Amino acid sequence: MRVDIRPAIYSDCPKLAKIKLLARGENADESSARFQSELRYITAFLDERQSVFVQLIDRAPMAFCAVRERNIKPFIGYAFIKDLYVLPEWQSKGFGKKLLMHTLRTMRGNGYMNAVLECAEDNARARKFYEKFGFEKREVNQKIGCSDGYVTYTIDF
Ligand SMILES: CC(C)(COP(=O)(O)OP(=O)(O)OC[C@H]1O[C@@H](n2cnc3c(N)ncnc32)[C@H](O)[C@@H]1OP(=O)(O)O)[C@@H](O)C(=O)NCCC(=O)NCCS
Repeated sequence: MRVDIRPAIYSDCPKLAKIKLLARGENADESSARFQSELRYITAFLDERQSVFVQLIDRAPMAFCAVRERNIKPFIGYAFIKDLYVLPEWQSKGFGKKLLMHTLRTMRGNGYMNAVLECAEDNARARKFYEKFGFEKREVNQKIGCSDGYVTYTIDF
């Protein structure tokens, strides 16, 4: 089994939209409005030259991590981990951890010293994953990209 991680390219975007919807347990039908909206959202990351890393098994994308620069106090200069999704059949096998480590190492190489993310309060599994990884919960007055019902986590490199 060959595992690779590389920056995303435009032709990956439909696959990444599918990974995200399937990881969230949502309908990933390509003709649905939901799929088209995710496709536009992920394509915009590349349009804006943000960092998106794709993980592939035997050359087939099965996970991705998208990072955004978001200079909002008190997280100015932090890498904002916006999306991290692993296809259901590949979850809990160490791939998410490997992809996140690769992403943070690359961001550190790009000059970042901290990262921030927001996770749904009721997503116990992802929260456990981030806490085990070393992220710490932060009390903040303002959310960066999400609304209420999300917990903010940070990590220093
Ligand atoms: C959350 C997610 C990215 C984690 O990736 P993953 O590949 O499943 O997780 P890993 O196998 O790399 O797990 C890494 C560590 O987290 C722990 N972990 C993973 N799932 C866990 C669970 N359900 N309960 C407790 N710990 C868990 C593992 O035990 C592992 O710890 P270890 O390194 O000590 O062995 C992935 O499960 C996913 O895409 N989930 C659905 C979408 C989602 O919620 N994304 C996050 C949005 S904020």
